[in-house]
Amino acid sequence: MLTRKVLKLISSRRGCQRLFFIKTASVNCRRAILEDFAGVVNINPNVLRGRDYVPARYDRIITDPNMSAYVAEVDNKIVAFACARLLDGGRTFLLLSGRVHVSYQGQGIMGKLVRHIKGRHSNNSNILYESFVTDGGNPLLSQVSQNSSEVLTRRVHCFAFPLHDIPLDALKLHGTQISTPTQEHLEKLMSENNCRLFPGGRLIVDWIPLRTDPQNVPLMIKTTHFHTDKSPEQDCLSFGSSYPCNIGLAYNLDIYGNHPESLRAHLHAHLLKIAHNVQRSREYCCDVVDKAHGGNPVNVHLLVYTCMTVDTAILQTLHKLGFPQMEYPVKTQIVMEKSFEKE
Ligand SMILES: CC(C)(COP(=O)(O)OP(=O)(O)OC[C@H]1O[C@@H](n2cnc3c(N)ncnc32)[C@H](O)[C@@H]1OP(=O)(O)O)[C@@H](O)C(=O)NCCC(=O)NCCS
Repeated sequence: MLTRKVLKLISSRRGCQRLFFIKTASVNCRRAILEDFAGVVNINPNVLRGRDYVPARYDRIITDPNMSAYVAEVDNKIVAFACARLLDGGRTFLLLSGRVHVSYQGQGIMGKLVRHIKGRHSNNSNILYESFVTDGGNPLLSQVSQNSSEVLTRRVHCFAFPLHDIPLDALKLHGTQISTPTQEHLEKLMSENNCRLFPGGRLIVDWIPLRTDPQNVPLMIKTTHFHTDKSPEQDCLSFGSSYPCNIGLAYNLDIYGNHPESLRAHLHAHLLKIAHNVQRSREYCCDVVDKAHGGNPVNVHLLVYTCMTVDTAILQTLHKLGFPQMEYPVKTQIVMEKSFEKE
């Protein structure tokens, strides 16, 4: 019996109209494996406006014991992909990296894949919440938001500049004491219930929405992280993660805190880190990034995520370094959450 039957009109390659009947009963959902790499990256090369992290991190996604990745196939062709990850000590089920081939969108395929993935977790009685992160303009938001609540909204600032243009001499820390917190230090910061830094006890690190739970620290420790705490006002914590993608070297910088001097020091420290990594690993940049761009100069595509009130300090700092803010369609990053509904 058909569970769902959807009629869709799409344009064929020849430009004429064709009728497609996609029956979700004929969609096969299964665990993704390393060998599915090509099928998965070919689903949609424009996810996240060319900033997709899945191609660069596919092996890690498949082999990470805390993640489970799934594909949906129609006629043995991979048409959709999504992953699940448990967070907050297993209390929260996060769905991420979802995408459906453009010819199959709007036909219930992601809905079927999501139900399949949740079904695989239905015996886990520890799971209380399900969440996902998206951007303010994503159409998915209106689809999923009816029974979910917005639990965190962050501002997105975009800067793009050539990798080799980072002005090392200008990146002075101006005496600001900046440190790389240890695991124990991060655990302490997470258990302190610091509402000024983390309103509602929430944060996002590299697009992963988290509660300020010390059990999430192993995930934070994998990033480039800095802390300043000369005084309570100057308290600032930041996390940076990079990966090569279609539009260059993507760098996600999540900053918590709003003291202008601290913000400047954190930005400088992350830019130094990017430049240092480039120098230290020419192979990484030249082979993976430069080659992927046919020898053209590689851009750093920096997205800085801050609380909604932070603006001028970030903009001024990067402007002074010669990196003006870029117009970018994504202005906000939003975490949605609801009670975990078993399938
Ligand atoms: C967004 C996208 C994945 C939706 O896929 P789709 O097959 O067109 O979606 P469907 O027809 O199944 O309708 C959406 C369904 O998926 C569910 N869904 C999709 N993503 C979800 C998520 N992250 N969490 C929970 N549910 C989700 C919706 O609730 C809805 O469920 P329903 O069938 O029970 O109503 C697809 O349009 C796409 O690939 N877009 C480009 C990539 C992208 O923007 N990804 C999302 C980044 S946040």
